[in-house]
Amino acid sequence: MHDVLIGVNIGRNKTTNTAVEQDYTLGIEQFGCLADYLVINISSPNTPGLRQLQNENELKNLLTSVRRSCDKVACDNQLKQKPLILLKVAPDLDEDEIKSISSIVRQPNTYIDGLIVSNTTVARMETLQSQHRNETGGLSGRPLKDKALETLRSFRRHTQGQIPIIGVGGIETADDVFERIKAGASLVQIYTGLTYSGPPLINKLNRQFATMMKQQNIKHINDLVGKDDRR
Ligand SMILES: Cc1cc2nc3c(=O)[nH]c(=O)nc-3n(C[C@H](O)[C@H](O)[C@H](O)COP(=O)(O)O)c2cc1C
Repeated sequence: MHDVLIGVNIGRNKTTNTAVEQDYTLGIEQFGCLADYLVINISSPNTPGLRQLQNENELKNLLTSVRRSCDKVACDNQLKQKPLILLKVAPDLDEDEIKSISSIVRQPNTYIDGLIVSNTTVARMETLQSQHRNETGGLSGRPLKDKALETLRSFRRHTQGQIPIIGVGGIETADDVFERIKAGASLVQIYTGLTYSGPPLINKLNRQFATMMKQQNIKHINDLVGKDDRR
């Protein structure tokens, strides 16, 4: 038993021929008993072939197999619940792709427990000034913020708020957290912000966020999730 939540992120390998069977299924079999939630990562831009799994047929096939493997996870400790399945998506999807994914993840054989929006972007914004701006690979942090937020809004719209969303991408301040939750996130994650500000950032954001909730007389986080929809 552990008193923190453990999430395990599973992505395909570059050299695997049958990623669904070899990487995702094996990953679920190995980690399903340890994890409270499994992230099915189909959005890292740095592994060739990985993002293709977001295509309709490949995604249906992957999620059908993921569901089947997850249902088979048998833990010695009977108290352990089966892990939740979260799907992590890219911020570079167009509206049709978002619509298609949103439909698949709500169907009986391919349903998931939540979405993580989003991974890094392959886009290069005109405002980037770094000498590294033309390098290939995933871009994270502040330049990703608006794109990740818009992608979240779009997933929220197409899933009609029926799938919980974890918001990630360029979150650095309590205002960012507030904005992401109002747009539809039930939780947020921070990656790049942590590398700049270190672990104290988490307590600081929690404190500032609690103050914002109080100032705006919001009693429960659920009253804030997706509040932008109700405008
Ligand atoms: C160096 C680095 C490695 C990452 N590795 C993974 C990974 O293995 N799996 C994954 O799903 N996302 C990975 N990500 C994406 C982050 O988890 C996160 O989704 C993304 O960076 C956006 O959040 P941020 O702007 O707070 O960094 C990685 C990001 C960076 C910068």
